[in-house]
Amino acid sequence: MFRKTILLIGFSGVLAAAQMPQIVKQGQKYTLMVDGKPFIVLGGQVNNSSGWPGRMQEIWPVFKALNANTAEIPVYWEVVEPKPGEFHFEAVDQIVRDARTQRLHVVFLWFATWKNGAMDYAPSWVKGDPVKYPRMIDSGGQQVRVLSPHSENTRSADQGAFVAFMRHLKEVDGDAHTVIMVQVENEPGSLFTDRDHSPASNKLFEGPAPAALTTALKRPAGTWSEVFGAEADESFAAWHVARYINEIAAAGKKEYPLPLYVNVWLREQKNFMRPGENYPSGGGTANMLDIWKASAPAIDVIAPDNYVTDYMNYRAVCESYHRPDNPLLIPETGGTGGYPRYMFYAIADFDTLGFSPFGIDRIAGGALPAAAGAAAGQSMMDLVRPLIDNYRLLGPAVDKIAELQGTGKLRSAVEEDQLTERLLVFTNYEVLAQFGPTRTSYGGTFASGTAKTTGRAMVAELAPDEFLLIGFDSRIRFEPRRGSKLKNSQFVWVEEGRYEDGEWKTTRRLNGDETFFGVSLPSQGGMLRAKLMSY
Ligand code: DGJ
Repeated sequence: MFRKTILLIGFSGVLAAAQMPQIVKQGQKYTLMVDGKPFIVLGGQVNNSSGWPGRMQEIWPVFKALNANTAEIPVYWEVVEPKPGEFHFEAVDQIVRDARTQRLHVVFLWFATWKNGAMDYAPSWVKGDPVKYPRMIDSGGQQVRVLSPHSENTRSADQGAFVAFMRHLKEVDGDAHTVIMVQVENEPGSLFTDRDHSPASNKLFEGPAPAALTTALKRPAGTWSEVFGAEADESFAAWHVARYINEIAAAGKKEYPLPLYVNVWLREQKNFMRPGENYPSGGGTANMLDIWKASAPAIDVIAPDNYVTDYMNYRAVCESYHRPDNPLLIPETGGTGGYPRYMFYAIADFDTLGFSPFGIDRIAGGALPAAAGAAAGQSMMDLVRPLIDNYRLLGPAVDKIAELQGTGKLRSAVEEDQLTERLLVFTNYEVLAQFGPTRTSYGGTFASGTAKTTGRAMVAELAPDEFLLIGFDSRIRFEPRRGSKLKNSQFVWVEEGRYEDGEWKTTRRLNGDETFFGVSLPSQGGMLRAKLMSY
C-alpha cells in the first residue's frame, strides 16, 4: 500500500533515499517508515544525564529486558560544543555503535537553547555571556533562567551546533539509519515568565501580529492583544519560539533530512493553567498548536509528553495532537500503572507513531537483567511487567499494526476501573471484549474485571468477516451487527499465531472449548485471527 505516490512531509527540498527514515502521509494517514517498512516506536527514554556511553552500558540491558525497539537518548549542546566552533561527537558515535550492537534504533534529543522551559544545557560560554546571549526578562524587569528567542546570536549559535550535529549524523549513520528521528530542543518555552519583557520585545509585542500568522489562522489583522486577547503574551511567545526552532530545524534538515519533532510540556495537569508558571509559555500546548503548525513547517510532529494519569484525559491529549496536520507521537509518558493500558488507546485509536516511557534506567533500577532476581529489582520488574509484555507481543507485529492505523479498521478495547466490558461496532459484526471472570444473570453474561485491571486489546477488521485480535486478559465475542436480519454468528475458523516480517504465521487452530464461549487473549498475551459467518 506504500507503493503509490507518497507525500514526504516537512522539509520539501530534499527527496530522501529509499531507506531513509521518514514520515509519509497518504490521505489522512501518517506512517513512520523505518528501513522501508511501517514502524511504531516501542521505546524508552533514558534519564537526562544518561547520554554518556559509560552510563549507557548499564542501561542497554534494560532496553533488551523491556523488548523495546528504540532508545531515546539526549545529546547535550554543552558537551558537543564546549568552546565556540569546537565540536565533539565521540559520545554520539559510541552510542550509535552500541545501539547497533543492541539491535536498537535511536532517537536523539537535542538539549540546547531549551530544556524544560529553561536554558540549563547551554554551554558555559553562552551562560557566561548574557550580553551576547540574552536571557528573557520577566514583567518585573528581572532576568530569568531562560534564553530569549529574540536573540539572533543565540539562535545562530544553537543552529550552528545543530547543523554540525546533523551533518555528523549523516556521515556516521547515513547508510545504516540506526538513528530514526531527532527531537529539536526539549519542552521549549519559558518558565518564570509568559514572554520576554525586554524593551525590544515589548516594542515588538505592541506592534501588529504578523500577517503570515493571522492569515494562516484566518483571523483579522491587529495587534497581538487585539488578535489573541487573554492569550496574547503566550501566543507572541509561541510564534517566536516556534520560528526560532523552525530555523534551526530547517537548517539541520538541509544537512540530513531525518524526521524532526518538538516535545511539549503540557498544560493539562492538576493545577492552574498559567503559562510561564504552571507550564512553559510558548511551547506547543494544545491552545498554541495552530500557531506552532503555522510557524514551524520544518518540524514534522508536535509531540505531547503525556504524563496525564487518568485515562479520559490521557485520551483527550492524544486526540488533540492527532490532527490532519499533525500525527500523534508520544515521546515521553509513564511505564507503570495505567500507562501500559493507555498505550493501546494511543496506538489503536489515535495512530501514534511511538510510545516511550521516560526514565527507563530509573524504572528498571538500572541493573537489569543481571539483578532481575534480586528483591529490589524483582518488584521493579513486576511494575513494568505489563509494559514488557506489551512490547514483546506487539514488537514483531509493528509493521502490520502501523499499516492498520489510520484506516478506521483498528480499535482499542481497554479495561478501566468499573469498565469491565467494551463493545465495538464494525461493518458486519459487533465485537464485545470482556475482562475478568464472568457471571450469567438476567440479560446475559457479564464480566467483573481482572484483579489488576490488565485487560487490554486491539481489534482490527481485516475484512468484513475477518478479525485480528491482539492483547491480554480479554475474552472476545461476536454477534452480527444490529440492524442486519441475521441473528447468530459462528466461527469458520480461529487461528493463533504471530506476524513475522509482515506475514501471518499460524501456530495452531483453536476450536472446541477454546472457542465455544468466545475466544480468549491470555494473561501472557496472544494474537488471533478469526473468520466468521452469520446466519
Ligand atoms: C520532561 C522532560 O522533557 C524530561 O527531560 C524530564 O525532565 C522529565 N520531564 C522529568 O519528569
